[in-house]
Amino acid sequence: MEINVAKLLVGNWKMNGVSTALGEASLIAAAAKSAQSQAIQLAICPPATLLARLSETTAGTGLLTGAQDCHPKAFGAHTGDISAAMVKDAGGHFVIVGHSERRADHGESSALVQSKAQAALEAGLVPIICVGETGAERKAGQAESIVLAQVQGSIPETFSDGALVIAYEPVWAIGTGLVPSAGDVLAMHEAIHRSLVDRFGAKGASIQLLYGGSVNGQNARDLLHLAHVDGALVGGASLTADGFLKILHAIQE
Ligand code: 13P
Repeated sequence: MEINVAKLLVGNWKMNGVSTALGEASLIAAAAKSAQSQAIQLAICPPATLLARLSETTAGTGLLTGAQDCHPKAFGAHTGDISAAMVKDAGGHFVIVGHSERRADHGESSALVQSKAQAALEAGLVPIICVGETGAERKAGQAESIVLAQVQGSIPETFSDGALVIAYEPVWAIGTGLVPSAGDVLAMHEAIHRSLVDRFGAKGASIQLLYGGSVNGQNARDLLHLAHVDGALVGGASLTADGFLKILHAIQE
């Protein structure tokens, strides 16, 4: 599976949304085709409980779907977990792995995230691998070294062109309304891009880099026009069609 568009806007609904949220997804889906004509791809990663229904409801609209996590194994005795093959079977195209909330809440290491990303590739999904520093790490001047170590540790050894997405999400910017300066986002995306090209050559350059953390209709345009910012991973503002489509419209202008 491959994703190759000018901009990728992914909504991460986190642990939000029951059946009534499908209506919001349908409203978002109604804008997906016209977005595609401008090489902007929209996607929603709902809670696992909604993935199959959301995928069915929006099939053929151009809106892609995905999950928020997967287990590194294909099947087996792992109560409560879902495999990448199950995500694929439920209509998913993407799976988010290594989100900072999972790294923090479930103690996920980069090595585990790497194995999940590998499982996603094997199942034919596009993994969205999340990385990002805490506020304390940024204050200590360690943001770049922490993020680059997460990138290097979380990426599968082998992948094909356009098969991977990385989301840079500073932990301190998630759900806080705080956003790094344009200069800081640019510097981090350039550093990630350079490290990928150094390690993987042209294939590394094919990895799309998303920014995530308090993206909304007001700041999207400035953030998404920066070099090596190929899209956004959006939490709170993706929960309503109005919030998510404001971001789309901001970058369509
Ligand atoms: P917010 O957009 O709510 O800050 O969340 C960002 C995020 O964590 C997306 O994965």
